[in-house]
Amino acid sequence: TFQPRVFSGIQPSGGLTLGNYLGAMRRFVDWQDKGLNDGFETIFCMVDLHAITVWQDPEALRRQTRELAAGYIASGLDPAKAILFNQSQVHEHTQLAWIFNCIARMGWMQRMTQWKDKAGKNQQNASLGLFAYPSLMAADILVYHATHVPVGEDQKQHIELTRDIAIKFNNDYGVDFFPVTEPVIEGAATRVMSLRDGSKKMSKSDPSDMARINMTDDADAIAQKIRKARTDPEALPSEADGLEGRAEARNLVNIYAALADQTVDQVLADVGGKQFSEFKPMLAELAVAKLSPISTEMARLMEAPDEIDAILRNGAERARAIAAPVLKKTYDIVGM
Ligand code: ADP
Ligand code: NA
Repeated sequence: TFQPRVFSGIQPSGGLTLGNYLGAMRRFVDWQDKGLNDGFETIFCMVDLHAITVWQDPEALRRQTRELAAGYIASGLDPAKAILFNQSQVHEHTQLAWIFNCIARMGWMQRMTQWKDKAGKNQQNASLGLFAYPSLMAADILVYHATHVPVGEDQKQHIELTRDIAIKFNNDYGVDFFPVTEPVIEGAATRVMSLRDGSKKMSKSDPSDMARINMTDDADAIAQKIRKARTDPEALPSEADGLEGRAEARNLVNIYAALADQTVDQVLADVGGKQFSEFKPMLAELAVAKLSPISTEMARLMEAPDEIDAILRNGAERARAIAAPVLKKTYDIVGM
């Protein structure tokens, strides 16, 4: 049996969005505190090697990596409680990923919906790294023997693949070495949708979505994006069932519930019967109240890049202390 250990990561592939915050970062903070109480390690990473599976301008990548670290810290992650580091600084990830490239099957990768979405129609022209992404992600997780991975819904399939890789490795070599990791997908906002198109995920990696709420947006920008968000002409229902078939309405209520730390039914008990013209300003006010302290702190941290870099260097050392023996043992199992 494996001791509980939590790992997760975010790509420095653009500015953090409200989706990243509600679906991932806020959950990370909950897990950090739980880990502190219950005595297990929590490890949070900036996955820059994943970001470069599509082209990133080098200076932008450097800035976005620091900004992501600032976002982690401003949201409540604390280097005294959790390990925070940059993926490319811990070489064990890529070394284990190669082993996993030899365990995973082509067909497993071809089924990944993120691969199909991101590669689009022109798969021949996508990078090999984009195709192999889930194998590196499995290494990110399993090099720490992580048992729980808090993520948004879009990452569920990749965690399932991580489980398949752990199981096949253990079977192929007749060992019980890698844990079969659990995805942890919790809260009212596990899949925040675009404010323009209720069928598309809000994503920092989608530069065409100008309506996405960025963690660095000021109060006016947040209010304006919420005011312009697509809705339907109906009033808000008084129960969650009434959001059936109303993707845009459901999205705004989910966001409200997550920001307010309430369930969707609790929110609707209060706002049921209101028109969106009345609800949107309430949502904007709540979003600004929750996000502006974070963006202020992010801006302050961005003025101290040396401080951020020192935190990440220290985090990388602590991460390596866990990862190195796992990699060594893996090589030993494989016969190297
Ligand atoms: P993005 O798609 O914004 O580039 P990443 O691939 O870096 O995000 O994912 C980082 C984390 O944020 C993952 O756990 C992912 O599931 C979560 N996440 C990303 N977008 C959303 C969203 N719209 N709603 C909820 N969680 C999200
Ligand atoms: Na993603």
